[in-house]
This record gives sequence, structure tokens and C-alpha cells, in this order.
Amino acid sequence: MVKISTSILSIKDNLIENIEKLNKTNTDYIHYDIMDGKFVPNTSFSFDEITNINNHVTKPLDIHLMVSDPKSYIDFFKNFNPEFITIHYEIDNLLENIKLIKENNIKVGVSIKPNTNIEVLYEILDKIDLVLIMSVEPGRGGQKFIYNSLDKIKTLRKYINDNKLNTVIEVDGGINDITSKECINSGVDILVSGSFITNNVNYQKQIDFLR
Ligand code: DX5
Ligand code: ZN
Repeated sequence: MVKISTSILSIKDNLIENIEKLNKTNTDYIHYDIMDGKFVPNTSFSFDEITNINNHVTKPLDIHLMVSDPKSYIDFFKNFNPEFITIHYEIDNLLENIKLIKENNIKVGVSIKPNTNIEVLYEILDKIDLVLIMSVEPGRGGQKFIYNSLDKIKTLRKYINDNKLNTVIEVDGGINDITSKECINSGVDILVSGSFITNNVNYQKQIDFLR
């Protein structure tokens, strides 16, 4: 069964109250989108804000670092005891940062932007636990799903199966009740969804639609 990771990026008001609402759903993970204003034009949560938020979260964490230089972020977020920390393929010092996450006994994810080919990851798949395929340009919630992401999911699924790897495939951006079905049929393991879930009052109903 596909897993759901709910992004809290698009929750506008009453953040803490809504996080407590999310804790009561069966979302598998809560997804933190962290931006530095450099790797992507926007910024999202500050360390103080995310510390406050995290005091209320009871679900396993799936942390997505959209930052050029993840080292200080990894040092900060390791204390949250997350399930995954995902960094971007497109940064400098990728291997060094993969190593740093692993040394802290946290599962490592590597994400590719829509214009990065999936094949570039083949040589590092044995070093990582998860691939995050961005199906929108990283930087903000509520964008439209980019369809070439389905080909990337299918190609990677075949490669993982053929090579008997355990790498998890996650997709992020523009996931709704229609695109979720196509991603599931293409072989995805985890769907990240923000606005489709949190722009509705009934989070659990939206999660049920995705599954
Ligand atoms: C985009 C983020 C996503 C985003 C998902 O940069 O990585 O996690 O918040 O939001 P939706 O589901 O609204 O596209
Ligand atoms: Zn994300």
C-alpha cells in the first residue's frame, strides 16, 4: 500500500491546531519543506518556528532540504530523530552530505528537480535509501504536476527491481486524487501531498482519496 507524507507548507492559519488535526489522521509521515532562499528563491520555516512546530508533531518525519549547503541543517535536524532527511542531487558536496546523514543513523534521500534525468542517480543508489522525484519546480506548494515525472518513476522502478535494490521511490508536487493514481500505477512508494490535503477541512478524507 502506498504511503502518504503530508507537507505542512500550505497550511496558512492555526498551524499548531492543524498539526494536531494531522496527528489524528493516518498519514504515514509529516513532510517538512525547508528552503534557504538560495537553492530555491523562497524561504520557509526558521529553526525557531520548526522547533515549535515539532513539539506538537507525533508522526514520523520526512525532511526535505531545498538548500545549497545542507551541513548546518543536517546538524540541526538530526536532533529531531527523523525517519528521512532528503537533500538535492543538484548541490555541491553531495557525497559528503550523504555520508553525514548516514553517520547519524538517519535514512538518506536524494531528490532530483524536474529537469534532472533519473539515470544520474544510478551510481549512488547503493548509498541511499530513498529517491525523491520532484514533480514541480521546488519552491512552493499548489503547483501543477509535471507529467514527465511518471516516466522517471517507471524507469527507476524497473531499475530498482532489475537490480534487486530496496530504494524507496517518493514523488512530491501537484499530487491530487488524479495524479496520485498515475504515480501509484507507475510504481511509487510514498506520495508527498500538501495543498490537496491541507486546503480541505477534512484531512483524513483527502488522504483516503490519495490512497
Ligand atoms: C515544493 C515542496 C512540496 C510542496 C507540495 O517545493 O517540496 O513538498 O509543498 O505541495 P503541493 O502538494 O501543494 O504541490
Ligand atoms: Zn517537499
